[in-house]
Amino acid sequence: MTENYGQTVKVLFTEDDIKHEVNQLGKRISFDYRDKDLLVIGVLKGSFVFMADLVRQIDLPFELDFIKLHSYKGVSSSGNVNFDLDISYDLEGKDILIVEDILDTGKTLKKIYKSFSQRNARSIKSAVLLDKTSRRTENICADYRCFEIPDNFVVGYGLDFDERFRALPYIAKLD
Ligand code: IMP
Ligand code: MG
Repeated sequence: MTENYGQTVKVLFTEDDIKHEVNQLGKRISFDYRDKDLLVIGVLKGSFVFMADLVRQIDLPFELDFIKLHSYKGVSSSGNVNFDLDISYDLEGKDILIVEDILDTGKTLKKIYKSFSQRNARSIKSAVLLDKTSRRTENICADYRCFEIPDNFVVGYGLDFDERFRALPYIAKLD
């Protein structure tokens, strides 16, 4: 237990746990995309820390960009997902890897897949830091993931609760 923003949090994954998983994931992606035209697309804001660490473990030439969708307010999702920031250039022939902080109901990732699949990309896959499988309402799964977690609200390493806790170097459960 540690104290942040006056709130007690329980560490689930330490900096070292995360580093190990992200390094492994970077190696897998480097191998799987060796003959491809990789475009890594981070979903703001939650993925920004994961994205920064992950791309530095990809030992290939690639491009990167960001998109942003309407985010969570507090602990419950509105279920309504819309683009705030999109990619405007041609995706033809690109092998897209979407990088998300957490796969929860799956609504966000579903919306992204639907949008990108209409734009002639050669392939679309996803890499998520965290996967809350038990919360899924959409028929979707991630191609790569670092950790599966139970139905807890988590913060840190990019993830927020009302915009706080994003800069914690570990992933923690809110009490
Ligand atoms: P989905 O559309 O329900 O899959 O929600 C995905 C988004 O919800 C993530 O990108 C997060 O921004 C947010 N989210 C879901 N669970 C958590 C959590 O435990 N902590 C922080 N954000 C979360
Ligand atoms: Mg997010």
